[in-house]
Amino acid sequence: MPIKGINVDSCNLCGECINECPMGNFNKPNGKIIFDNSRRCILCGHCIAICPENAIIYDDMKDSALDFEEKDDYQSYNAIYKLLRSKRSIRQYKSQKVPKNMIEKVIECIRYAPVGMNKRTLKCLVISHETKINDLIDSIIDTIESEEEREEYKKKRKENIDPFFYNAPHIFILHSNNDWDSKNAVIAITYAMLGAETLGLGSCWIGGVQIFLNENKEIAKNLFSIDDEIFGIMILGYPTVKYYRAPPRPPMETEFISEPPV
Ligand SMILES: Cc1cc2nc3c(=O)[nH]c(=O)nc-3n(C[C@H](O)[C@H](O)[C@H](O)COP(=O)(O)O)c2cc1C
Ligand code: SF4
Ligand code: SF4
Repeated sequence: MPIKGINVDSCNLCGECINECPMGNFNKPNGKIIFDNSRRCILCGHCIAICPENAIIYDDMKDSALDFEEKDDYQSYNAIYKLLRSKRSIRQYKSQKVPKNMIEKVIECIRYAPVGMNKRTLKCLVISHETKINDLIDSIIDTIESEEEREEYKKKRKENIDPFFYNAPHIFILHSNNDWDSKNAVIAITYAMLGAETLGLGSCWIGGVQIFLNENKEIAKNLFSIDDEIFGIMILGYPTVKYYRAPPRPPMETEFISEPPV
């Protein structure tokens, strides 16, 4: 278990860890703060985050804590609002591939997304190989039941049109055998898409293929050895489009039970 205990020399007995831990793993029996390692820890790291003295002792998590000196920068409502409004689903891509270090930055965004009970079971497959992407497209088309539809797609393929992934050079597939990941993957992909936007990359959720691959499991199994559930598919690449404004959206239907103060 990564949380090992408390550095009693640094601990100022403030009790923040007791109030914060969602699993009730800290207590103060005899005037000293105790970490009870017999209880369940979901590794959420909230004790590490909240301790003012950095007194929580933990095992190597292959990551380090991020200090908040410049917190104000990324918490600006205006900056986030602009990002949320300006991010579009991109359906026109350059053929140019995204360098690995940028793909890794997008994966980092997934890594820090919230996860139910902090159970980090989602796996991510990134397909950047043209032949593999073509194999996937062709396998999907070959599996479509309606002959008429199949022929229509084949015609598009001859015109070099990618009818599912919009010729994006990268496909992310999030998969696992944990049902909760159906929710977690939605958030993970949202984080990835927002992160991608800040890097000048375009992305789009490809829900139709996700449903199709889950209904026809042999495709992902044969091509990528994925035999669990696919919870999200996202494409990524450099957009060929430029937007000049964010479109308007209808008002959010909201009901207040008791009006908040003005
Ligand atoms: C789908 C989902 C369901 C969650 N349900 C609960 C919940 O019922 N109770 C709770 O305390 N936290 C819940 N959480 C919060 C997670 O436990 C939390 O995101 C995770 O421990 C990581 O901590 P962080 O969000 O501070 O990074 C949920 C998170 C997600 C994404
Ligand atoms: S990591 Fe989370 S669950 Fe574990 S002890 Fe710290 S606050 Fe509690
Ligand atoms: S939050 Fe840190 S300083 Fe405060 S009681 Fe817990 S371990 Fe001690």
